[in-house]
Amino acid sequence: MTTTPWGATPTRAASGDAAPGVATRVLAARVLDAVIHRGRSLKGELATALAQLADPRDRALLEAICFSALRQRARYDAALQSWLQKPLGEKDGDLRSLLLAGFAQIDAMGLPAHAALSATVEATRVLGRPHQAGMVNALLRRATREGFPESDPAAAWPAWLRKKIGLDWGDRAPAIFEASAHAAPLWLRVNRMKGTRDDYASRLQAVDIDSTADGNLADALRIDSPVAVSALPGFAGGDASVQDGSAQQVADALAPAPGARVLDACAAPGGKAAHLLERDPSLRLLALDVDSRRLDRVRETLQRVGVAAEFRAADAGDLAAWWEGEPFDAVLLDAPCSATGIVRRQPDVLLHRRPEDLVALVALQARLLDALWKTVRPGGVLLYATCSLLKDENERQAAGFLARTPDARAEPLDDRYGHDAGSGRQRLPGEQGMDGFFYARFTRAS
Ligand SMILES: C[S@@+](CC[C@H](N)C(=O)[O-])C[C@H]1O[C@@H](n2cnc3c(N)ncnc32)[C@H](O)[C@@H]1O
Repeated sequence: MTTTPWGATPTRAASGDAAPGVATRVLAARVLDAVIHRGRSLKGELATALAQLADPRDRALLEAICFSALRQRARYDAALQSWLQKPLGEKDGDLRSLLLAGFAQIDAMGLPAHAALSATVEATRVLGRPHQAGMVNALLRRATREGFPESDPAAAWPAWLRKKIGLDWGDRAPAIFEASAHAAPLWLRVNRMKGTRDDYASRLQAVDIDSTADGNLADALRIDSPVAVSALPGFAGGDASVQDGSAQQVADALAPAPGARVLDACAAPGGKAAHLLERDPSLRLLALDVDSRRLDRVRETLQRVGVAAEFRAADAGDLAAWWEGEPFDAVLLDAPCSATGIVRRQPDVLLHRRPEDLVALVALQARLLDALWKTVRPGGVLLYATCSLLKDENERQAAGFLARTPDARAEPLDDRYGHDAGSGRQRLPGEQGMDGFFYARFTRAS
């Protein structure tokens, strides 16, 4: 049995509201409004809003509402269009967002209707729209009664990206759109330095959290019901970390030898570096990232799990800025990408990604590949990985690299890493419960 992080009953008022949970719904509407209508990032807006809630259950509820509403946005928008005689105007962004938040509670999250309705209707007044509280009430009641009309999950994707996914994946595209509209399971990575996976599963069981061990992933446990990270035993002490199964497979695909000199060229926030070092603390790992603030996150991550590395803030593609000429046995290029494989975890990707971003990303990936290749010792390995689904960033990027790099050879990865994709492997979102991911392993001629 697993309880939801926001509890079985309506959450309490967060900051002196009239009714329980009203502040949480108001904040949800404001976050969604900023993300959907003003191009703001979900992560940034949530961070500010979460700081205004004292109770961890309210914070978990706010996150769950925002993520659920964004994942199912197209479906809820379609319902609004068919239920409203007069469409909402440009100035009604907060109201529309509050409605999406209400629908998410009733539908995707399955909250008891009375809890969702009273707090959301009350939030209409707090948003300065008392005259529309009746309409919100009526629409939420209708949703509770009738459910939502069927709609195509592809409608959530911008037309240019939908077309690209269609061209790249053909009859697999509908499953990609469908999987991207649903919440991902929670994947944990158990820290080998602190105990076995079986032991950790027992510790979870002792606090009523069910988990499943994955046969292909040595350190992974999968939890299918939502649970707050703070409820995980020993989390603060680094006994376990949250990391999708696809990301955990990077350590297997790179497989550095004991004591190897390893470069993690795009390291922040540090999940893959931490995993590599938990598996083998004898690695001499340099964690590099262009963003010095994000590099601080890597330091915190590694400190929490109890491993050590060297750190450097620099553009990985500018070798003169950071490389002293000593080659690496293994280089991980977990490249900046379109994040189209993790839409279920970052649903605002669909609102913010532009065609010109993709062009810039593909050029940056190629520049990083070419520069970093020079740092690989003869006989060494470079693993190119992305959480993208687009062939321009993956299969075609890898093919282009091989074509212009005579001393690079692609080493085949087996089907545990997903579908055959040119010189690499591609997992599509939801397959084996994991995120969409691409892996290509290149070895340098001796
Ligand atoms: C996909 S994330 C890496 C995730 C990380 N490997 C992990 O497992 O936690 C990509 C990272 O690349 C970094 N980045 C982008 N351009 C870069 C560059 N030119 N040089 C180094 N890092 C870069 C970004 O700051 C971002 O942290």
